[in-house]
Amino acid sequence: MCGIIGFVGPQESDALDVLLDGLAGLEYRGYDSAGIALANSPIDVHKRQGEVSSLESALAEADLASESVGIGHTRWSTHGPPSDYNAHPHTDAEGQVAVVHNGIIENYQSLRTELSEGGIHFESDTDTEVVPHLIAQGLDQGLEPESAFRQAIERLEGSYAIAAVFEGSDTVYAARHESPLVLGIGQDGHYLASDVPAFIEYTDQVIYLEDGEFATITPDHVRITDAAGETVETTVETIEWDAEDAGKSGYDHYMLKEIHEQPNAIRECLRGRLNELTGRIELEELADLTWEGPVTLVACGTSYHAAMVGVTLLNRWGVDARAMLASEFDAASVPLTESSLVVGVTQSGETADTMRALREANRAGATTLAVTNVVGSSAARECDHVVYIRAGPEISVAATKSFASQQAALTMVAAALSGRRSRELVQSLRSIADAIQQVLDTSCAREVAQAYRDADAYFFIGRGLHYPVALEGALKLKEITYKHAEGFAAGELKHGPLALVGEQTPVFALVTGDGDRAEKTIGNIKEVEARGVPVVAVTDGQSDVERYADHVLEVPALKGIASSVAANVQLQLVAYWVAHELGRSIDKPRHLAKSVTVE
Ligand code: F6R
Repeated sequence: MCGIIGFVGPQESDALDVLLDGLAGLEYRGYDSAGIALANSPIDVHKRQGEVSSLESALAEADLASESVGIGHTRWSTHGPPSDYNAHPHTDAEGQVAVVHNGIIENYQSLRTELSEGGIHFESDTDTEVVPHLIAQGLDQGLEPESAFRQAIERLEGSYAIAAVFEGSDTVYAARHESPLVLGIGQDGHYLASDVPAFIEYTDQVIYLEDGEFATITPDHVRITDAAGETVETTVETIEWDAEDAGKSGYDHYMLKEIHEQPNAIRECLRGRLNELTGRIELEELADLTWEGPVTLVACGTSYHAAMVGVTLLNRWGVDARAMLASEFDAASVPLTESSLVVGVTQSGETADTMRALREANRAGATTLAVTNVVGSSAARECDHVVYIRAGPEISVAATKSFASQQAALTMVAAALSGRRSRELVQSLRSIADAIQQVLDTSCAREVAQAYRDADAYFFIGRGLHYPVALEGALKLKEITYKHAEGFAAGELKHGPLALVGEQTPVFALVTGDGDRAEKTIGNIKEVEARGVPVVAVTDGQSDVERYADHVLEVPALKGIASSVAANVQLQLVAYWVAHELGRSIDKPRHLAKSVTVE
């Protein structure tokens, strides 16, 4: 995920030190390139693909004049591959202004076309680069820097946290819309960052910028204004956690932090891809994709569960599709032709089993599509088409937010491939982020975890879209608690697994809605309940399942994909809190790695 740092200090201060410390403080978010700009005249811009240490080596060789004002950035690629030229900051042609940006500018293509027609040459593939050019246009019209900055920001659609410095100026200008930005109020200067860890070693006094607000930061003062330019009253808050906890933003573990990042991850995944009016999913990435015959999705682990969600929807919407564990995929036994479509679902884009399957598919001449989180990953580079899930980097070994974003992305892919157009579906996708937030705000998963921390084993059952969620609930629990857990299709329980259940094996049952699937799953619950087995129902209260449950984990009453994504969050929290109760190494479970690059 991209990170921003800015510093404005008194003349004798050295911004470069602060910026490099800030970039180091942002490294935990994951990034593929880094850069800084100092407000000298002309502006000094240095950026490098790779780690902050590569940037530091380049800076050590540069003959830099000391400067007290600057901005810095760690980039997680969204538009264009990781490279020196795509790294931030970006400048206008004359080098009057340098800009760093987090988020996605949705209308950048039209702005880029307009600016190009006006003779502007672009140096990068990024959406961000339109911003310094728009600001420079304002300067050329005779506007002061602040007005030029505001005028440029007004033209942007999408999400952004943006900071800009001007040649020879002692001021940093910033704006935010749906992407976090926080100011640090220090004794010797002021700070600006996407996240507190970037400056926590300098100050714990912060002001959080709200959507639509602008900040003008000088060595002596900070002014926050609204869209109309009116000054906004703000409160300075004190950060209670220290530098050591900083990367986790105060959470005990990355896993918990990433679980809480899901509403935002989903919003990013959907951004610019839904048309509310027509009910169409607008995945430009698939505009020229053609195929015939069954669609094969290949994936491992959690990504395989997401692939199952995709296949369930494709099948419901009339497309012949199947999900295969990538390690079991064999191009010789799966009939592939030049018109077949093989979809690799992989958060990292590097999983060896998935890459082997995709390479085999490529060799067989099939069309390949990667649904991945990592721009420039092997899957992204080697497949014919890519849909990014835009979850931001996931540090914890256990996949959480990437699973939520994969489900949302694959729902869109399934709709695009099946030609489905439905306002109800668009609304369902839109409702996911708030539904997750509601679960996060109200969940009693911790009490449930305390009640069952010593259970012998944990079983998870679900039907339809809840079946892959049941499998995922079990996988999450087993990988971070080291306890036995299994997921089953609810109807399968009576065909064998029922022999396993007892008083020490709680069954987590996913039941939402009041339709046929819910009724049947309640029937399956009665089978276990009658044998004295504790039941935890994950439900939206639409059926009478609570009558048969010892504990209830509530989800908002929503249909389809929104319901199953929200239900999964309750299971993530149960797994997390059981592991917490048992004192496990949650972010780095034993024997496991984040990216599995061996077959
Ligand atoms: C489980 C988990 C793994 C991954 C699997 C595939 O929490 O993270 O099961 O889902 O190793 O990884 P990617 O999606 O990177 O291909």
